[in-house]
Amino acid sequence: MGGESEKWALMVTGRTPTNIAVIKYWGKRDETLILPINDSISVTLDPDHLCTTTTVSVSPSFDQDRMWLNGKEISLSVGEFQSCLREIRSRATDFEDKKKGIKITKDDWQKLHLHIASYNNFPTAAGLASSAAGLACLVFSLAKLMNVKEDYGQLSAIARQGSGSACRSLYGGFVKWIMGKEGDGSDSIAVQLADENHWDELVIIIAVVSARQKETSSTSGMRDTVETSLLIQHRAPKRIIQMEDAIKNRDFPSFARLACADSNQFHAVCLDTYPPIFYMNDTSHRIISCVEKWNRAEGTPQVAYTFDAGPNAVLVARNRKTAALLLQRLLFHFPPQSDTNLDSYVIGDKTILQDVG
Ligand code: DP6
Repeated sequence: MGGESEKWALMVTGRTPTNIAVIKYWGKRDETLILPINDSISVTLDPDHLCTTTTVSVSPSFDQDRMWLNGKEISLSVGEFQSCLREIRSRATDFEDKKKGIKITKDDWQKLHLHIASYNNFPTAAGLASSAAGLACLVFSLAKLMNVKEDYGQLSAIARQGSGSACRSLYGGFVKWIMGKEGDGSDSIAVQLADENHWDELVIIIAVVSARQKETSSTSGMRDTVETSLLIQHRAPKRIIQMEDAIKNRDFPSFARLACADSNQFHAVCLDTYPPIFYMNDTSHRIISCVEKWNRAEGTPQVAYTFDAGPNAVLVARNRKTAALLLQRLLFHFPPQSDTNLDSYVIGDKTILQDVG
């Protein structure tokens, strides 16, 4: 391994934004490999607002793998981390820094321990897809550190094994997670449909209805859905093709209709689950009514909404002018500090995966 009296440490820092599905992933056909029962499509957010920054370091002086999330030590023994660590370690290649006299072979990587420090700049597990950004960032940073040669598609298949939606956060812009057919999950990967510059007049506003931790995790919620919901069989693959076309043609009315319909169908499926899952609350429903009324009054959609596994609204405005009007309306109907306690973030969708270390 080398290095003067083994007193060295190597470090890589990565930054990965979260992504919001406009056609939702919900349900697994294989829980261990995290293979979904449908394709999904997402938009990756701007890294300045909702992102995870992770520093991974390796040193012969570390005697065990350790991880800190937002400054607090957490256990690395849980399945999702272990799968990602195992997959990345198995693909590690030789590394050499001649100046520092450090040489790490493929075999050394299996024995060396890691320290991982991760920060979310937004509430963890509040339905803002923190696991997506977190696991994608972990895989990306570890792959850099361990000199892994795999392309983004292959890395996405590793991130997928940490948390399904994480595979889509490896790319900016619009991303599709192809469910795949193979039993080993080798074709269940994310691909970029369009980059972050393709449709840059869109503005995403997240109305944070509640930053509290959600009551039903996505993992257990979707397991219950697969076991008990009859409605789940009716989720339409046709919508994926239509959404791909809407994105390709920057067709906002179709984009909005499809995104809203898919979000509503996803929450209907949650309600059809036993025991029923309620991710949205009264404020979420009021936001939907407000947007629907506005869109109807305009005759063509101006704003799309989508809700993940939590009450927070992700609103997509067709351009900056509409976004300004939308914010005005939100502040009027849901003033901060009122009992609805709505907080808003403005987020452009231009996003790139950043390697900052
Ligand atoms: C509603 O990716 O968090 O956000 O694979 O069990 O970790 P696991 O679930 P997760 O589920 C995300 C579900 C969703 C929809 C989506 O992002 O597509």
